[in-house]
Amino acid sequence: MEIKITKAPVLKEKPDSSTLGFGKIFTDHMFMMDWNSEKGWYNARIVPFENLSIHPASTVLHYGSEIFEGLKAYRRADGKVQLFRPIENIRRMNNSAERLCLPQIPEDLAMEVLTTFVDLEQDWTPSAEGTSLYLRPFMFGNDESLGVHAVHNATYVIIASPVGSYYKEGINPVKIMIEDEDVRAVRGGTGYAKCGGNYAASNRAGERAAQKGYAQVLWLDGVERKYIEEVGAMNVMFKIGDEIVTPMLSGSILPGITRKSCIEVLKDKGFKVSERLLSVDELGEALQNGTLKEAWGCGTAAVVSPIGELCYKDVKYTINNGEIGETTQMLYDTLTGIQWGKIEDTYGWTKEI
Ligand code: PLP
Ligand code: COI
Repeated sequence: MEIKITKAPVLKEKPDSSTLGFGKIFTDHMFMMDWNSEKGWYNARIVPFENLSIHPASTVLHYGSEIFEGLKAYRRADGKVQLFRPIENIRRMNNSAERLCLPQIPEDLAMEVLTTFVDLEQDWTPSAEGTSLYLRPFMFGNDESLGVHAVHNATYVIIASPVGSYYKEGINPVKIMIEDEDVRAVRGGTGYAKCGGNYAASNRAGERAAQKGYAQVLWLDGVERKYIEEVGAMNVMFKIGDEIVTPMLSGSILPGITRKSCIEVLKDKGFKVSERLLSVDELGEALQNGTLKEAWGCGTAAVVSPIGELCYKDVKYTINNGEIGETTQMLYDTLTGIQWGKIEDTYGWTKEI
């Protein structure tokens, strides 16, 4: 498909890498295309970054028809820019779209528009340690009527933001609170889809945790509030004795690409990895008897983040003396090494722009 490019007349000044934070600064352009149930995808364009104009009755504003993705472009030491497993994001976006009755984007088209956009904005990829260009593709239902039904019109957009670390702690351990009141998702719901509504429903618990000094909440399953699921913006892994345990993909948690990558790296290094049910009682026991050696979260924004403290029902448990453990560090070094091109990508995960 032809992508019409309209360049911004004046380019913005690039920010100082030390002040980036997460998702506050945006590049000069954005990608957009529209979809109609009769025409399919049309009007693919790159335009100057600007506010969107949508009808006040637009589906997304009333019924939450919205899905998104998150991936990063990394600046290698040789100056080139590369993406990490972008095909996985494209496939997950289509799975999310299927759940929300939004349109599919053919994989080739999704890859073409993504790489064309990143190519145009690649000067915005910062080079300082731990920084990258975060890409946020999103799609929303855009019918101009108030009836509730599968959408007939949708819009797909990609914006980009140069970022540093997601948590203010950086690679230092974060404190996480186990949430036993609100739930994020149930099987049969939208937990496995990356849709905005999942995050909207998480905010109340997240705010309560923040007031107590916790970075995010760890969700329990929505039926029994018994099994560990995931954290607000990352999947979780625990080293119990010599076993690495991570909640299995039951339909209510997001199938993280970082999670999948960590599992592959861990198995290659000879670790025993179990994707299974992990009850909060089993975790509590492991915390008390000292067999819980390490805990970490993994996600695109969060990378690999050690968890230094867990709080459950107001009892605080310190993990690994509040320090990053050796397995967590190994995963961080391996993944970021591949992402920033410091170590050889023997998996074929990276895509040079
Ligand atoms: N779980 C949730 C709820 C998330 O928002 C994210 C971030 O995208 C993840 C897990 C990790 O997924 P990924 O590694 O694909 O970024
Ligand atoms: C990501 O890691 O890309 C995410 O989408 C997390 C986000 C909700 C900040």
